[in-house]
Amino acid sequence: MIVILDFGSQYTQLIARRLRELEVFCEILPFSTPLAEIRRRNPTGLILSGGPSSVHAAKSPRPHGEILESGLPILGICYGMQLLVQMHGGKVAASKKREFGHARARLQGKDPLFAGLSRTLDVWMSHGDKALRLGNGFKVLAKTPSAPYAAIGDSKRKWYGVQFHPEVAHTPQGDKILRNFARRICGDKRRWNMKGFLDEAVRDIRRQVGDKKVLCALSGGVDSSVAAALIHKAIGKKLHCIFVDHGLLRRGDKERMNRIFKKGLGLNLKIDDASRIFLTRLKSVADPERKRKIIGRTFIEVFEKDAKRLGKIDFLAQGTLYPDVIESVSVHGPSVVIKSHHNVGGLPKRMRMKLVEPLRMLFKDEVRELGRELGLPEEVIGQHPFPGPGLAIRVLGSVTPEAVKTLQQADWIMQEELRNAGWYDKIWQAFAVLLPIKSVGVMGDARTYENAIALRMVGSRDGMTAHWIHLPYNLLGRISSRIVNEVRGVNRVVYDVNSKPPATIEWE
Ligand code: XMP
Repeated sequence: MIVILDFGSQYTQLIARRLRELEVFCEILPFSTPLAEIRRRNPTGLILSGGPSSVHAAKSPRPHGEILESGLPILGICYGMQLLVQMHGGKVAASKKREFGHARARLQGKDPLFAGLSRTLDVWMSHGDKALRLGNGFKVLAKTPSAPYAAIGDSKRKWYGVQFHPEVAHTPQGDKILRNFARRICGDKRRWNMKGFLDEAVRDIRRQVGDKKVLCALSGGVDSSVAAALIHKAIGKKLHCIFVDHGLLRRGDKERMNRIFKKGLGLNLKIDDASRIFLTRLKSVADPERKRKIIGRTFIEVFEKDAKRLGKIDFLAQGTLYPDVIESVSVHGPSVVIKSHHNVGGLPKRMRMKLVEPLRMLFKDEVRELGRELGLPEEVIGQHPFPGPGLAIRVLGSVTPEAVKTLQQADWIMQEELRNAGWYDKIWQAFAVLLPIKSVGVMGDARTYENAIALRMVGSRDGMTAHWIHLPYNLLGRISSRIVNEVRGVNRVVYDVNSKPPATIEWE
């Protein structure tokens, strides 16, 4: 495997993604990781990521000097290259002008790093500092009109640096460079794919858990479903799943849990209908954050009660994904809380259990692939994200059982029409919101004064940013007229045309 040391670049995760697409296994570690810790992973090579700092800044992030004595091949990208140059006796100049964007690099001589590439490359630059003089052993491998050291290499030590970013799509042959580094220079032979990952994960879970029991809060979303299916494959009935129905689910959600997980997969699954207690506690609560807190707390309470009935359990399964893991080690500080999303975050600490997190090395689309490998149906794998607090944050204002029912009906119609028109899979997330306002309408010959439904449909890669979907007018029209005709208490439908930022995806 390849270890990527993270110096804070916005592209660090992309390096990992590209390598994994090339079937090279890799892991991102903080820049300050000591060599011994790196060695424990048995890496074939190191990549030093880019970063926002200048190597001249007093507090610029630096790796332990011992990595240069490790004997491992190293590829420094952008800031990583400047570090390599500076740590190895070369000179890096701070430049006031940042070079940013497209450039053409010309290859000089031959080197395995560029095997199989054309002599001129389109590359993506994004840097402030510039290498001025190279230390002993380095040769220039590529130049651009403004960067005499666009790529450098010391083929004896197997140290390389590129001033541009091979990991971004704007460097079209970048994946070949990364592949050459991993396969030719580091000699990394192992092919990392889902089938192999699955077998290994099953072995790891068995080893970690032994003959003990594992508890899992199954929500039916992609992550917990895949985690549960995987652990079930490893330890069968020793996995105990609990699905807490808070009464804020979409139509059909509960029935699906039963059909797919209990009957289909044969999971040890308890479905607990706790809707009464959730809805009672939410009565007259309009503030979104209070709703989230109440739901989070009640969830833990109900879950703990159900778990107690199962006797002593040592392990708790969690569907933690790789981006969560990296965020918690990244060089950036924690970002501001816009919404308190992770409402089951308090579980492990309170329950004093050891964690089983079999997805902690995977990105979201890899989790989906693993789910397919495990035989989970597309209706689970391809579903849109659904927030933990469910419809409570889509019934704006205070939540009543009637309002939840109205919203469920409208949402169901929208989902059905999107699926029938082949749009569901093209959209990251689509849902209906029940607005706490009434407006006047006319139906038949009578005046109506009823609620409005807002439709929200967004495209996104990760939920951090999003754009609204340009749904065809006739499809919007069909959804609108079906909702107004079929759902009692709704006489108007509006479409949300806001991106994130400035709006968030959910309305609360
Ligand atoms: P926002 O509304 O912050 O949503 O743009 C980004 C993504 O997060 C989901 N979301 C939540 N998920 N608990 C969750 O588990 C929450 O409280 C919560 N709030 C928002 C939202 O559906 C979108 O996918």
